[in-house]
Amino acid sequence: MDRSLDAILRPRSIAVVGASRLERSIGREILHNLIEYGFTGSVYPINPGAPAIHSIKAYPSLRDLPEPVDLAVIVVPRPAVPGVVDDALARGVRGLVVITAGYKEAGEEGGREEQALRDRVRAAGVRMVGPNCMGVINTDPEIRMNATFAATRPERGSVGFMSQSGALGEVILARAHEIGLGIAYFVSMGNKADISGNDLIEAWEDDPRVNVILMYLESFGNPAKFAAITRRVTRKKPILAVKSGRTAAGARAAFSHTGAMAGTEIAVETLFDQCGVLRAGTMAEMFTLATALAHQPLPAGNRVAILTNAGGPAIMATDACATLGLQVAELAPETQAALRRVLVPEASVHNPVDMIASADAARYAAALEILVADRSIDGLIVVFVSPIMINALEVARAIIAAGRGARLPILTCFMGKEQGQQGVEELRQAGIPAYLFPEEAARAMAGLDRYRRIRERPEGRVPDLPVDRERAEAVLAAVAAAGRTDLLPEEVARLLTAYGLPVAPSRAAAGAQEAVAAAAALGYPVVVKGIAEGLVHKTERGAVRLDLRTPEEVTAACKAIAAALAPAPLRFQVQTMVRDGHETILGLARDPKFGPLLMFGLGGIFVEVMKDVVFRIPPITDVEAREMVRGIHGYPILAGARGGPKADEGFLVEALLRLARLAVDWPRLAQVDINPLIVGADRARSFVVDARVRLSRGL
Ligand code: COA
Repeated sequence: MDRSLDAILRPRSIAVVGASRLERSIGREILHNLIEYGFTGSVYPINPGAPAIHSIKAYPSLRDLPEPVDLAVIVVPRPAVPGVVDDALARGVRGLVVITAGYKEAGEEGGREEQALRDRVRAAGVRMVGPNCMGVINTDPEIRMNATFAATRPERGSVGFMSQSGALGEVILARAHEIGLGIAYFVSMGNKADISGNDLIEAWEDDPRVNVILMYLESFGNPAKFAAITRRVTRKKPILAVKSGRTAAGARAAFSHTGAMAGTEIAVETLFDQCGVLRAGTMAEMFTLATALAHQPLPAGNRVAILTNAGGPAIMATDACATLGLQVAELAPETQAALRRVLVPEASVHNPVDMIASADAARYAAALEILVADRSIDGLIVVFVSPIMINALEVARAIIAAGRGARLPILTCFMGKEQGQQGVEELRQAGIPAYLFPEEAARAMAGLDRYRRIRERPEGRVPDLPVDRERAEAVLAAVAAAGRTDLLPEEVARLLTAYGLPVAPSRAAAGAQEAVAAAAALGYPVVVKGIAEGLVHKTERGAVRLDLRTPEEVTAACKAIAAALAPAPLRFQVQTMVRDGHETILGLARDPKFGPLLMFGLGGIFVEVMKDVVFRIPPITDVEAREMVRGIHGYPILAGARGGPKADEGFLVEALLRLARLAVDWPRLAQVDINPLIVGADRARSFVVDARVRLSRGL
């Protein structure tokens, strides 16, 4: 277990610097919470003006303490912070929690102060949470630390929760308390000057008290490190994140399709997806899923049975399950027969199993026993809508009994009137999530299933493909030496072939006569393209003529292109006509914060109209490359849907791996758009027929 944050997460003694005499002040509240929650170590109030705070002897400064302390919680006005930090370091304090605000969030001067604070503690090898935070909680009975000024008393449980917003942290603590979601740790990270979300994930990675990691994030400090850590940790325990700022999609200059489609939002989505981090769209969704993840086992598959005493909610649950990729499959004949024996004749023994309103606790118990034993069911959603004559509490207890040690997850949608609230309470205490609405139960089940798939995903490897780095270097150096950022078609071809991406044979031509000669050398039929500075949508501009079969057709095509693009200065590219394949687009764009993003989709209208594309952050593994190919909605087309031609999938996977390698090897590549790569039935019939490459400026 990572113990580097122990001084903060598991201190044996705490000083509260700025523990105020004033009731309801933050400093006083923190001291009060520490005592009231029953901190198992010693607590020292520090206040220069008071001999005692909250009936406890106070010391004027950290330097006056009779013994060293592990942690200092700092709640003094910002100008006083540096002095307090000096005292803390002098007294051998090992961890700091800085509540004080007015730093980076307040402007430039605060930003400089924060930088100085971080440098100071890092130089001393001391760790710090904050500044501008709400504090830290550890509910471990051996520690019992509530070093926050939150109004809610935290309940013990298995969730490690970090929040970048203090205010939301308070709301979340309150809501968690309401629904019985117990926490192991809560850390309000504030400005994350020293300790980041990455540090906390690593601290909780092997902590047996943490089953689920929840994060509320507003920004990423270091996405690459986050990726490396979460890829590893999500194989051990689920990480569930709410990231605000979803809608800030950034449209980019239209140099490439990839560039236009890849915004920061896509990058975040991709990062989470690739690293197996579950993303909740809303706080409500986060709670829905967290309660299931914290207490229930993972399903072995996606087959769900629904047990109900009312038709409507079960239909809603069924619809929601189907939409979310779960199967509400027919039950095995033996299961149906067994249910028939214990239920009333009016009951339906198909899935959803509707026991009708007369079902009491005994019927629930009997039906549950049968369903839990059925190995063709991976998860159970139990719906109970309280009829007046049924004792809801007894039904809840029947569900709890069935859930004890069950191999599959049981989620409930419990709407009890008669003793219903107590039933819900007992369900929650027993770790069986009780939702109000059927869709929530379905969503939670889908989340459990998604996490199962994340855990089962093969790790894959990044294959070491042979590439010609020297040749690529020579191309890029020549472009830079010429003071250009955009590569000429022949440079693009050299670069891509150096990385093993086959480019359709082509030749440059200054005019029609040279184009005819080039066509003769390449062999008919050919394609003629107009090349002009800044030209992106060649086809729309009339700059591409396909399937030319004679010298006359080539000459006419050159004329027509020249007329369409006039008065732009122009050259031509004559290329072998590639037929019979699927048009795909492979792209690379760089997000200023997240780095390279790889894109894949079907070309033509699929990318332009349907935006049917997937992204990954390189380097990618062979498994991820295949996931990309199979991840687009149009994948069946590539796989030969309805008797259509089949694309060579292995080649496509390799092409993506090669482009990813290019992106990793050459950070100065800003954008690459291979559009289209025509993929035939085998690699010998697959070619890049058009591609654009742009370098970033100043490299
Ligand atoms: N060492 C020890 N105690 C000191 C001190 C020092 N160097 N300097 C001041 N104090 C004491 C004061 O005497 C006072 O105690 P008293 O009331 O008994 O006299 C106490 O510390 C607090 O100082 P005060 O000047 O009253 O400040 P405050 O309570 O108004 O504000 C903060 C202090 C930290 C709360 C405030 O600066 C702040 O940052 N507020 C925002 C916090 C926040 O929102 N954080 C993010 C949450 S998500």
